[in-house]
Amino acid sequence: MTPAARSGPAFLAVGGGKGGVGKSFVAANLALALARRGAARGARVAAVDLDLGGSNLNLFLGEPLPRREVSEFLEGRADSLNAVSQPTRIPNLRYVAGSFDTMTAVDPLRARKLDLVAALVGLDADVVVLDLPAGSLPSTLDFFFLGEIKIVVTNPESVAYHNAYGFLKNYLLRRLLTEFRDRTDILASILDRYRVLPGEEEAEPPDRTITGLVAALREEHPETRAEVAGILEYDAPLLVLNRVRRRRDRATLERFRAVVEQNLGLRCLALGTIPDHRKVADSVRDARPFLLTHPRHAIARQFERWAERLSFTLLR
Ligand SMILES: Nc1ncnc2c1ncn2[C@@H]1O[C@H](COP(=O)(O)OP(=O)(O)OP(=O)(O)O)[C@@H](O)[C@H]1O
Ligand SMILES: [Mg+2]
Repeated sequence: MTPAARSGPAFLAVGGGKGGVGKSFVAANLALALARRGAARGARVAAVDLDLGGSNLNLFLGEPLPRREVSEFLEGRADSLNAVSQPTRIPNLRYVAGSFDTMTAVDPLRARKLDLVAALVGLDADVVVLDLPAGSLPSTLDFFFLGEIKIVVTNPESVAYHNAYGFLKNYLLRRLLTEFRDRTDILASILDRYRVLPGEEEAEPPDRTITGLVAALREEHPETRAEVAGILEYDAPLLVLNRVRRRRDRATLERFRAVVEQNLGLRCLALGTIPDHRKVADSVRDARPFLLTHPRHAIARQFERWAERLSFTLLR
């Protein structure tokens, strides 16, 4: 299928925990690599910064001074995201800047969520890369769901992968609640497990793990098996371990993947690891796009390989 034959863009969503693990770095460089890969066949890529509190995707794309930002759309001063999108140094890559300090709401993505989803689908692009804010607020997860490809970024610090684990757990729970939103009987059995009733402390507490929940869903609602398997096995997020310093850090990714599979039942695949390198920090500081500034660097080649792999889904 050529890019033009698709009705709306394909989405790639990048999310994860707090603490500057590298979500924006990964989102920007995948957008750059996908744009380069798709250029020959005329594919257009848009990178969208949905971090409305401390946006910085533009710096990773080498665009230090955005003239427009997503808040213009959210506040009704622009009709579409196309109107606030801006060019980059790559002709077939545009970006929508997040906003830095205009939005002060606790959950700014929530207010006009459906309008924003419609505007994202309406972007003049074949592929849209979403850079999400840190954490797993429900609205952040809803935008993460948009991703035909979903990537969770973490780093080898234990705090970071605890955060990534929490993100995946919240993702899975919200995904199940969303998937079965029209089935009140199933929703009730999901929610019941998380409700502590007065006096229940005395009784045997229910298994409140996600695996317990999935097992109960399978047992009590066998008709959901195919859908649950779809969520757990075929549509699980890909994992990226960033800022790897030592050889043994690489094993962390496989361990993390195994823990997620065992505890959450989610069969995530590892996309791979990215080394920690001074040149990354330097390129951000100077607002130069890493992939274009150091095209032969092992990290740049890694992004090119990932873009090739993802292009089978995204650049159909
Ligand atoms: N592989 C790396 N090597 C060295 N430094 C890195 C690497 N990846 C990221 N960094 C540094 O970490 C900083 C944070 O990265 P980034 O902004 O992508 O994180 P984030 O997950 O998007 O953070 P936030 O949650 O604030 O949005 C970057 O400015 C960069 O300097
Ligand atoms: Mg970020």
